[in-house]
Amino acid sequence: METRTIKLTESAVKYGNINLSCCREDFFPPDVFGGPNKKAGLGNPITLKVEGLPDEIKTDIPTDTKTCKPRWIFRERGWVKRFVNLHNLRQDSNIIITRLDKRTFELSANGNGDIVKKGKTEHLSKKLLDINYTKTCDCKGNNINCLSPKEWLKCQLGVWQFNYEGRDIRDKNVHPATFPISLARKVIELFTHKGELVLDPFVGSGTTLVSAQDCGRNAVGFDLQKAYIKATESRLTKNTQLFARSEQIAICDDAVNIPKYLNSESVSLIFTSPPYANLLNRKRKNKSRRNRNNEQLGKIEQYSQDPRDLGTMELDDYTKAMGDIFEKLLPVLRPKAHCVINVPDMWWENKRITIHVSLIEELRKRGYELRNIVIWDRTNIVNQIGIFGWPSNYITMGVTFEYLLDFWRSSV
Ligand SMILES: C[S@@+](CC[C@H](N)C(=O)[O-])C[C@H]1O[C@@H](n2cnc3c(N)ncnc32)[C@H](O)[C@@H]1O
Repeated sequence: METRTIKLTESAVKYGNINLSCCREDFFPPDVFGGPNKKAGLGNPITLKVEGLPDEIKTDIPTDTKTCKPRWIFRERGWVKRFVNLHNLRQDSNIIITRLDKRTFELSANGNGDIVKKGKTEHLSKKLLDINYTKTCDCKGNNINCLSPKEWLKCQLGVWQFNYEGRDIRDKNVHPATFPISLARKVIELFTHKGELVLDPFVGSGTTLVSAQDCGRNAVGFDLQKAYIKATESRLTKNTQLFARSEQIAICDDAVNIPKYLNSESVSLIFTSPPYANLLNRKRKNKSRRNRNNEQLGKIEQYSQDPRDLGTMELDDYTKAMGDIFEKLLPVLRPKAHCVINVPDMWWENKRITIHVSLIEELRKRGYELRNIVIWDRTNIVNQIGIFGWPSNYITMGVTFEYLLDFWRSSV
């Protein structure tokens, strides 16, 4: 799905003239361009699905009387003021236009305005989620989990290994970067009690939610991509537990908007694997594979080209965007609740890109305290490793381990 970012001008805010010139002609179907006025003939309309507005808009794009070139505004503009007011947009706010199919486009406010909560627009506004977050077990007051001493002992090792199981998603066409259900389970069981609330801000195919369902934890996950939310919902439906008392919800939204959905101090654990900056956003060379010539060779295994997608950002922008998201999430975490982030480092043009260092520094600046670094040893699940750097350049293979960065919201 192609997207474009449009900056609102004064004319857009006042008169509804959204400047579409950045979209260029090939973004729209060629027959959408109509005459300068209705008398001269309308173009074949496209459909706009506008975030927060109940009805779809049908419109064409007029051309200029003298030059006959597109005027780069939508002819129907009555809805723009409602959209601007609903999301508190201003001049210079960014909005996103996404082409869903040849004739259908989605406009979203890019999370840079607040949804106005008026009685009239109540059904449109985002409400706090109605989800339980208090523990349902009988564990004692300051226990941080329901584990037995024996189970706790196993978790003290600083290097963890996991196996994939039948329910795990390994098909890169469904999702290019999933972690195993067993990894999510270990983190959830270590840092929460039954009935508490787990949050995954980058839920992807929903592994954290499936695991939360297995463990009787309430959970909510967010992702920008509708397809991933659908994949998550389908996994949850298949996994349904008889007599389950917990609930798992997947929401299609930008992670920056999460605080709008959650009560403060309601979340007992954030567990996630975010995008790894823009490092998947290039053609695969399969350098780490013994058999390089597989179906992944030359493919870009990236989630989307949506400018809000953290996987499209250079490391510096990415680090700041992660900082902005996690700073906003701090108030929804209970004091001393943990936040575990799974990331690898990467190699790019013979330089190590230390994503884990950038994230530790950034989250510390944003009020998190680093507690532990666990190594996820992947040597048991990688195979067919190719030789790399021999004999002059020693490089450890990124695919053989990843970091689990364990922070908490300190109580001071
Ligand atoms: C590494 S994947 C998560 C995979 C997940 N752990 C699983 O097992 O399926 C990261 C996800 O973040 C999503 N994403 C990227 N930018 C986002 C944003 N700004 N808000 C919400 N989700 C985003 C991507 O669509 C992608 O699915």
